[in-house]
Amino acid sequence: MNSIKLKNIGSLISYDTFQKKVISYENTEIAIENGKIIEIGKKLGSCDNIIDCKSNIVTPGFVDPHTHPVFVNSRNSEFIRRISGESYEQISLDGGGIINNIQELRDVEEYILFNIVKNRMDNFLKMGTTTIEAKSGYGLDTDSELKSLSVLKNVSDNHAIDIVPTFMGAHTFPNEFLDNKEGFVDLICDEMIPAISDQGIAVFNDVFCEKGYFSPSQAKRILNAGKKYGLQPRLHADEFTDSNAAELAAEVKAVSADHLMAVSNEGIIKMAKNNVIGILLPGTTFSLGKANYAPFINLKNNGVEIALATDFNAGSCFISSMPFIMSLSCIFMKFSIFEALKACTYTAAKSLGLQKKIGSIEQGKNADILIWNFNDINLIPSHFLPNPISKVIKNGKLILQLD
Ligand code: NIG
Ligand code: FE
Repeated sequence: MNSIKLKNIGSLISYDTFQKKVISYENTEIAIENGKIIEIGKKLGSCDNIIDCKSNIVTPGFVDPHTHPVFVNSRNSEFIRRISGESYEQISLDGGGIINNIQELRDVEEYILFNIVKNRMDNFLKMGTTTIEAKSGYGLDTDSELKSLSVLKNVSDNHAIDIVPTFMGAHTFPNEFLDNKEGFVDLICDEMIPAISDQGIAVFNDVFCEKGYFSPSQAKRILNAGKKYGLQPRLHADEFTDSNAAELAAEVKAVSADHLMAVSNEGIIKMAKNNVIGILLPGTTFSLGKANYAPFINLKNNGVEIALATDFNAGSCFISSMPFIMSLSCIFMKFSIFEALKACTYTAAKSLGLQKKIGSIEQGKNADILIWNFNDINLIPSHFLPNPISKVIKNGKLILQLD
């Protein structure tokens, strides 16, 4: 039996599933046995190992529910074009965008891609992410989508971070289908989805539903095809223009609708009615230099549950820090610190169907826990640099000690 006790916790801050709110407990201890939290309280009994939290704050490990880490090189030249005045949408219309990652993803050997993605997971873990959703979607033919998902499985098996895999064959249209878009939708529905389901290497199916990418009717076909093969729908919805994508997410009962910078009021109301979680990605809005952050307050007032994620990807956002995403959400979208913490832990886990195991520090849950560098939760939004995380515990093991 392997037991650990966390002592001298300044404040333990976590969502509480019974009281349905984030709670801060002062001067408490956590007992962990065989990877699970077995007790939370004062003056707990003896154990094999003790971790001294030095009166600092302790929170659940972050769950990042929207990332695209399976690519070879990031499109750095597009960032330079954007700071010279061009927009993401203009650059994509001019031949830039996701399409430029495809050939190198198709050509790269699987073991090289494995090392690239594994190194990226090291960066996420250092910033306190203990579970991550990750999408394929830069290969866009059957073999390279399978290769991307196989890399995600192998990295997850060989890294402390748990990766939840999503198939995203509908990320953009590759060159060979630019004049035959319905043909590519057929390929996704008739060949890619059955092959992926056959190998059992994806849980979710995501589509970039946006002007210039997949229309709502194409997205609907792809999400319904995935459902028949057991892949649950998520959706990139209304990122740049209102494309009726939030409405579609509600219609197909997607687990989440993500981005939502341009979501309509009708879309918000339908999401709330159908329990579609809104995943907001302020790192992308920030990195693209845009001003229209997703309407958090309106979503909240209409009863939509909200999670936050990095959207780490090759082109529009290179951020892998959930503490920084918390800062952006508080500064630009007026989240309270407790709302941001819940959105980055409990609700993020819920959007992956994992809220019974992870996303909060409660008896019986996996011991995925962060010890921070400071003793006051109010410092989180302003003290995002240098890395505010001091120790990362995953499944009851001290995986990273950064101080
Ligand atoms: O979520 N919107 C689609 N996918 C990514 C961007 C991917 C890329 O530009 O490489 C996103 O922002
Ligand atoms: Fe995305």
